[in-house]
Amino acid sequence: MANKVQTIGVLTSGGDAPGMNAAIRSVVRTALAAGLNVKGIKRGYAGLLDEDIIDMDTKSVADILQRGGTILYTARCLEFKELEVQKRGADILRKHGIDGLVVIGGDGSFMGASKLSAQGINTVGIPGTIDLDIACTEYTIGFDTAVNTAMDAIDKVRDTSTSHERCSIIEVMGRRAGHIALWCGIANGAEDILTVEKYDGDEQKIIDNILAKKKLGKKHHIIINAEGIGDSYGMAQRIEKATGIETRATIIGHIQRGGAPTARDRVYASMMGAKAIDLLISGATNRVVGYHSGEVVDYDIQEALAMEKGLDEYMYDISTRLSRQ
Ligand code: ADP
Ligand code: F6P
Repeated sequence: MANKVQTIGVLTSGGDAPGMNAAIRSVVRTALAAGLNVKGIKRGYAGLLDEDIIDMDTKSVADILQRGGTILYTARCLEFKELEVQKRGADILRKHGIDGLVVIGGDGSFMGASKLSAQGINTVGIPGTIDLDIACTEYTIGFDTAVNTAMDAIDKVRDTSTSHERCSIIEVMGRRAGHIALWCGIANGAEDILTVEKYDGDEQKIIDNILAKKKLGKKHHIIINAEGIGDSYGMAQRIEKATGIETRATIIGHIQRGGAPTARDRVYASMMGAKAIDLLISGATNRVVGYHSGEVVDYDIQEALAMEKGLDEYMYDISTRLSRQ
């Protein structure tokens, strides 16, 4: 028999991502439209433990759809991995009348949501991370904006790289995952794309490629290096030494995490936020929302966390065929 939720709590946790505000807005307004109360929990699980909890109404989420970051702030809270702390978190939620919780974040945050579900709080996760590294979903909120930001930056580096006939190594975020690197590699027409999933560490192959392309008359050589490989400055020094071609490294960094979300991020965030509330209203718990084959779907959190995700093989194959020319 489904528990009927009356008061929804919403929090953002882990690294922020553009579009999280759009998701919060959708959660709040969909819940209000269904006659539920809504409370915002600030700074993720850390704010929950500090009882940093506010009432939210439709005005609380006015004018945020187009803004990067998260109005609820976010944090990492390592102590939440302890059972006693999770029990305290569930008690605090009950004290504030919160019987349904929406957690916007990544796999770690979903683990926290799952632990709260085990303590009797109905929970649903929404995938929010620029890294696209959540296995159960083809889309994570923030990815599109981050890729577009990185793409713009790489276009700019490419201009100066061409003028100076240099080689450029541009490092993009993604933690251990190479999705941002692969997308930028294709979108920016990079000569080489280095990702943890595919790079064999053979720097000589890159050097040979640079020299071969130079012979063909290429005016620049763009290497997109995923954060998980790192060492962009060291790589630039070694490549310059081996090729005699001036080489510069650029680490794009946290600008990839900010800025106004793209239409795609706003729309997916809005859909996923509403789906989370629909699930809670139906009595579901321990679920995570995902996007699969054109549909917003949901999975059991444990099943979702057990899934594995690699780079899209066909996309990767295409990227290598395009960069070889
Ligand atoms: P993400 O959600 O982006 O994967 P993290 O891995 O940093 O980010 O996790 C965010 C937060 O989720 C952690 O700081 C912690 O509060 C909570 N969390 C992570 N793992 C667990 C766990 N095993 N049990 C309970 N809470 C967890
Ligand atoms: O998960 C998002 C992300 O930006 C990763 O791409 C990156 O590895 C990490 O967070 C950086 O974290 P921080 O903001 O703590 O430096």
